[in-house]
Amino acid sequence: MLKRFLLLTIWVLSMLFLKAQVKNNPAYHERYRLQVHFSPKEKWMNDPNGMVYYKGVYHLFFQYYPKDIVWGPMHWGHAVSKDLIHWKQLPIALYPDSLGYIFSGSAVVDEHNTSGLGKKGQVPLVAIFTHHDPKLETAGASNVQNESLAYSLDEGNTWIKYKGNPVLKNPGIKDFRDPNVRWYEPGKEWIMTLATKDRVTFYSSPNLKNWTKTGEFGKAEGAHGGVWECPDLFQLKLNDKNYWVLLVSINPGGPNGGSATQYFIGDFNGKTFTPADNKTKWIDFGPDDYAGVTWDNTGKRKIFIGWMSNWLYANQVPTRKWRNAMTIPRELSLKQINGEIFLSSNPVKELDIIKLKAVTTDASELFKNRVKSLPKQYIITFNTDKVIDYSVILSNSIGEKLVIGYHKKDNTYFIDRTKSGVVAFNAEFTKPIIAPRFTNSTYSNLKLIVDASSVELFADGGLSNMTSMFFPKKSFDRLDIQSQQAMVIKDFTITELKSIWPDKK
Ligand code: FRU
Repeated sequence: MLKRFLLLTIWVLSMLFLKAQVKNNPAYHERYRLQVHFSPKEKWMNDPNGMVYYKGVYHLFFQYYPKDIVWGPMHWGHAVSKDLIHWKQLPIALYPDSLGYIFSGSAVVDEHNTSGLGKKGQVPLVAIFTHHDPKLETAGASNVQNESLAYSLDEGNTWIKYKGNPVLKNPGIKDFRDPNVRWYEPGKEWIMTLATKDRVTFYSSPNLKNWTKTGEFGKAEGAHGGVWECPDLFQLKLNDKNYWVLLVSINPGGPNGGSATQYFIGDFNGKTFTPADNKTKWIDFGPDDYAGVTWDNTGKRKIFIGWMSNWLYANQVPTRKWRNAMTIPRELSLKQINGEIFLSSNPVKELDIIKLKAVTTDASELFKNRVKSLPKQYIITFNTDKVIDYSVILSNSIGEKLVIGYHKKDNTYFIDRTKSGVVAFNAEFTKPIIAPRFTNSTYSNLKLIVDASSVELFADGGLSNMTSMFFPKKSFDRLDIQSQQAMVIKDFTITELKSIWPDKK
């Protein structure tokens, strides 16, 4: 009897305890939950998809598995924002069906209703995605991936699958996915850039439904350590001249291991792409920026967002209710350095909306006195008067630290997460992370966006970038700067950022 009573009491107490836990720990509150980056309220997320701007709203769809925190049958999750910073998660936009899982793709505004999917003068939004058939995959077939359409007649809120799917059938290439569709004004037609194993293949269409192959690019260009995925093709101007930029993600084979996104700058003639040079360039050298593409329909502005993870360990990172987030949206531009053209990326100006107090510190003091009470999420910016070795160290009272800095000898920026807390979930997580420096300027300029479990480094005006997650057991609340030689740090500013989540106190 007494035993029963005790057991019942323990059960009641543990239920009460659990309830209190949930109450005090609403969604977006957990230890590693990012406070200024989009992540799904719960469960698994990978690539950003179907990014389109329409009537003042940025739509962000994403590879989503609503039943678990590991990759599974893919859906398109959906979130919207009016300012690229605050996101509202909406119901799932696309569910798997008899043709398979809903893999990555893009979305466009079919302004002239070329598809005929708009009725009575409606402008349809059209999503073009890969149907991935798991049954065919198990059977060992090669035509597992085909391209399909879905459309929205209510400004992107809800989506209807097109009855004639798939619109582009697999010719027998196992990796045949991630269609990126854009309107090509010179030809007054749609262009699809498709990832096809070790290259991209271009198709054109008058109506988004019938596609004709026009060319291929990449078999002999760029990095080939893994399969090509998630391309994006768009134009950017530099000194009044138009250039075409082609983004191609690759997994594995990134500069610091695993997944990463390379880019090519050159010319596109409506049929195929010709690069200006044969060098392999990376939009972000860090391990945790993958499958990134840009929003459609944003005019001259090109805004990029990436998935802040790496296939090496994305399924293992130590979050519990949700897994993986997006990077800060970044504005892309071209820069010329010693005659060579680079793609630079910088946080969108909308980030200013959540800037709180900025503290500018007398920099000479920084070498002697650490900053002892860092805000939860913040931006650090500073310039150095010389380009010599230095380290910015984020740490806590239990000896964990994340070190970010510059090595003169190799002319590289680095991030060292070997002692950054929980690292044992995958041996690749503690490998060295470096990014080359491209400018010869006599000073260096650094911007770091630090969130609960991520840092994004933008060096030299967005030329050498690195995104990296980290998982300390206790928040990093201290900052030191160290250098063996004398150096002056100018304009050192820490700007606190306000959480973007409504339930955060
Ligand atoms: C890239 C990717 C895509 C694919 C999707 C599946 O991370 O492998 O090529 O469409 O993820 O979730």
